[in-house]
Amino acid sequence: MTHILFVDDEPMVLDALQRMLRSLRHEWQMDFLSGGAEALDFLEQHPVDVVVADMRMPGMNGAEFLKEVRQRHPQTVRIILSGHADPELILQCIGTTHQFLSKPCDPEVLKRTLRRAALLGNSLPNEAVKKLTARMDRLPTVPVLYTQMIETLQSPDASLDDVALIVQRDPGMTAKMLKLVNSAYFGLSQSITSAVEALSFLGMETVKSLVLSLHVFSQYETAPPGSNFVTEVWTHSLRTAEAARIIVRQEDLPNNQQEEAFVGGLLHDTGKLVLAYNCATNYGKACRLATTENISQLEAERQVFACTHADVGGYLLGLWGLPAPVVESLTFHHAPAMSLNERFSTLTAVHVANALAHEADKSPGSRASAPLDDEYLTKLGLADRVNFWREALHQLRAPHR
Ligand SMILES: [Fe+2]
Ligand SMILES: [Fe+2]
Repeated sequence: MTHILFVDDEPMVLDALQRMLRSLRHEWQMDFLSGGAEALDFLEQHPVDVVVADMRMPGMNGAEFLKEVRQRHPQTVRIILSGHADPELILQCIGTTHQFLSKPCDPEVLKRTLRRAALLGNSLPNEAVKKLTARMDRLPTVPVLYTQMIETLQSPDASLDDVALIVQRDPGMTAKMLKLVNSAYFGLSQSITSAVEALSFLGMETVKSLVLSLHVFSQYETAPPGSNFVTEVWTHSLRTAEAARIIVRQEDLPNNQQEEAFVGGLLHDTGKLVLAYNCATNYGKACRLATTENISQLEAERQVFACTHADVGGYLLGLWGLPAPVVESLTFHHAPAMSLNERFSTLTAVHVANALAHEADKSPGSRASAPLDDEYLTKLGLADRVNFWREALHQLRAPHR
């Protein structure tokens, strides 16, 4: 049974939460405590799946409390509850908090957020990988884009459009911006799935303080296997993103769906970055195993980690509260038939775009590493669209005469 801990110094708030969630007491084990120190003692004895903490508490505030939780119990999902008067504080805890909820809390939003967090807990069977992944507060940024970003923000006449041009090409920066704007804290009625929209919502000053003072983006100090690793994943991700957007455009679907597919493509291999940075030795082992045993990269990852980069990426960005269709496109990009969705979706576009990007990549084994799921495409009635999409991409990539 999922165990959830609520921490708030106001007894009235705890009472209200208890009443609001009463109907779920058979589904979840819930405890309610009044302070950070008390809650940390409790956690030593009772590991919980999710903590929901108030931001303003005397003694230890919510951000300090969750920082401790991240350190001591990294696999616990960390959610902060905060009033709308605290935007500065919210920005400060973007690293230690998985999700943000606004106060007073809409019961349906709270239940939906907790349900999603509870389900995620079961999606990764490897506890060690789960701990390392849940502890991640940022994704590595492509070095050249990171430098460009700092220079742009320091320049007095930089515009939000200049910043957007950089963010939308970098998986790490895009994921972080979407995490922030999609939090329930901002109370938006619709998910934001494009980096450009996220930036215009936050505004230049907030972006500046996030990047220059709070350092929400950074390059990693430890090198993953193969010095070009980030660049390789990035190049492939960008190709997949562009292809996914074109596929959705070919289906005459609106702009927001094209942008969602672009983001899904850009982020689809996030799990590779997570595994390579946190478990460099084992990730190198999986890559070698795929070659020596002549098995797929996915099978090799399963043998070494008992999960794949698709599971890991979906888990992390699910924890960060990214829109469900984007998370689904990460989790199932190699096995779209596992999704319950039986219509053309962002997942379909990302699955096909990934396969076509591998097809166009001439390096050995690339094509075989991400085959198209013909059965899935036939079931959706899309099997004969693949050649059309392939041709559209081909035309786009052909040098202009
Ligand atoms: Fe992949
Ligand atoms: Fe891929």
